[in-house]
Amino acid sequence: NHRGRGNPRLRFEGLQPGTSDAVEIPDGYEQRVVVRWGDPVLPEAPEFDFTAQTAEAQAKQFGYNCDFVGFQPLGRDRGLLWVNHEYTNEALMFEGYTDGNDADPEQIRIAMAAHGGSVVEIRREFEGRGRGRGRRTGGWRLSRGRRRFNRRITASTPMELTGPAAGDELLRTEADSEGTRVLGMLNNCAGGTTPWGTILTCEENYNQYFVGGEDAPEESKPALARYGIATEGDTRADNRRFDRVDERFDLSRHPNEANRFGYVVEIDPYDPDSTPKKHTMLGRIKHEGANIRITRDGRVAVYMGDDERFDYIYKFVSERRYRRGSRRGNSRVLESGTLYVAKLRGDSPEKEFDGSGKLPSDGAFDGWGEWIPLASHKESFVEGFTVAEVLVHTRLAADKAGATKMDRPEDIEASPVTGKIYCALTNNSAREPGQADEPNPRGPNRYGHILEITERHNDAAATRFRWDVPIVCGDPEDPATYFAGFDKSEVTAVSSPDNLTFDGHGNLWISTDGMAWGNDGLFAVPVEGRHKGHLTMFARVPNGAECCGPLITEDQKTVFIAPQHPGDGGSYEEPQSTWPDHEGFPRPSVVSIWHGRGKDIGS
Ligand code: FEO
Ligand code: CA
Ligand code: CA
Ligand code: CA
Repeated sequence: NHRGRGNPRLRFEGLQPGTSDAVEIPDGYEQRVVVRWGDPVLPEAPEFDFTAQTAEAQAKQFGYNCDFVGFQPLGRDRGLLWVNHEYTNEALMFEGYTDGNDADPEQIRIAMAAHGGSVVEIRREFEGRGRGRGRRTGGWRLSRGRRRFNRRITASTPMELTGPAAGDELLRTEADSEGTRVLGMLNNCAGGTTPWGTILTCEENYNQYFVGGEDAPEESKPALARYGIATEGDTRADNRRFDRVDERFDLSRHPNEANRFGYVVEIDPYDPDSTPKKHTMLGRIKHEGANIRITRDGRVAVYMGDDERFDYIYKFVSERRYRRGSRRGNSRVLESGTLYVAKLRGDSPEKEFDGSGKLPSDGAFDGWGEWIPLASHKESFVEGFTVAEVLVHTRLAADKAGATKMDRPEDIEASPVTGKIYCALTNNSAREPGQADEPNPRGPNRYGHILEITERHNDAAATRFRWDVPIVCGDPEDPATYFAGFDKSEVTAVSSPDNLTFDGHGNLWISTDGMAWGNDGLFAVPVEGRHKGHLTMFARVPNGAECCGPLITEDQKTVFIAPQHPGDGGSYEEPQSTWPDHEGFPRPSVVSIWHGRGKDIGS
């Protein structure tokens, strides 16, 4: 058992900020690409051919832009890897691509098939001769023989809507008069793994896939606009134009279709025939991720961020108790309970926050907070909203409830050692100096910060909490940065924290999306003890990529990362990355990293 031993110092030699078209790792570590865009997933999938892509092949091959990575072991040396395919970079995939208006319809179909997610069976690499005879490593590769569990989920996979809003008028369309069946999931960013072995994968910027909002019914426009869906001007300009191959993406004809995206989707990786579930009880927002902590009385709490400037942090607490070790026994646990939104109050006088990020006179960005209930499965707590309206128009309900406007809440996750909850607030260039407050102390906030939440009595079901900002990101030489009071001369510059995970000692691992100094990367920092705030860089990703994943396996021997959108900003004709194959174009991929002498990750 690696847990609960306190927080030993992270011992690897940290990397410096920089650029290269490679995954860079500390001395003593090794890496291997596990799976790449286009690799065969289903048994009948053809080998990838970059110059002769088809939608039919893509629907059986590994999808594009990898974000969340989940892992379920199948014994010691095999496992199931789940990977989100958030979106597609058509300019890098197709020759001469401008936008969806000029695209060949087959290219649009390929892009739709490259969205979604994949389940792939992987196996451990052994060092030396013969499988099973050499030494175990923390490296993993795609299993070519066994792939019984392999599965592709795309923008067209049938899914079920669950929970109190399923079947509501707001979710009914011409193709689905009952409002319970949706095709596909879109822009799945981060996610989580449930204690019962399923995957939670979260729909984020789904607004960008719809057109025709200018001709949608007037009464639906305010809600569409609150979710960033264009309701005026030429909504077809610079759009992927999925509507050209599937008219449900045209809101002038199917205004409710957009209400059917923006959910936490639960997928059972052990059952390739299972129907993915979009859980309305967890609300409809630009869901970044969803991570679970069990409450003191054995129920399930899910922490979730809404990644938009000035949007909110949410928590769901189930009505039912979690039944240990049973996938079927927990299959409906996310369908009833209460959805809350966070309200944070600082304990220092408001006038001490001028947007500069200067610490207040009490020496800490901290205070109290409460979880405001928005709705249960039976009852709405927001005046003027039905339960279904709260769950479909969650942002509007939370606006009315007076939630605290945060600087783009990305991943939020509890430490397995202390139970404290950490949220990455990635940045917010739009916060004016006068809008700075104690939980979001910089305006503009270019580099982001980390929020720590301690639930009352350390119970995930609590409706009150204390909070604190242990890390204010940026260049450590900038006085408006803070690393829990640690000596800043020993700390690495970091900006735009996005995905979070923990090692077994409770050290926080932070990946970035928008480093201001060189390429994005993966950082590690103790959040307890003598070295609290001593942040160092563990990995750097190729040119143009953000660092997704990350995930440290339960045995502490592997960290998976997903360098997403390598070469972003370039084009098919002028690629700025050709990682990982260096054959003229980039392939978004998942990488395993391990210690060459078999030590735990972080050693
Ligand atoms: Fe897809 Fe919020 O990052
Ligand atoms: Ca304070
Ligand atoms: Ca993200
Ligand atoms: Ca991001």
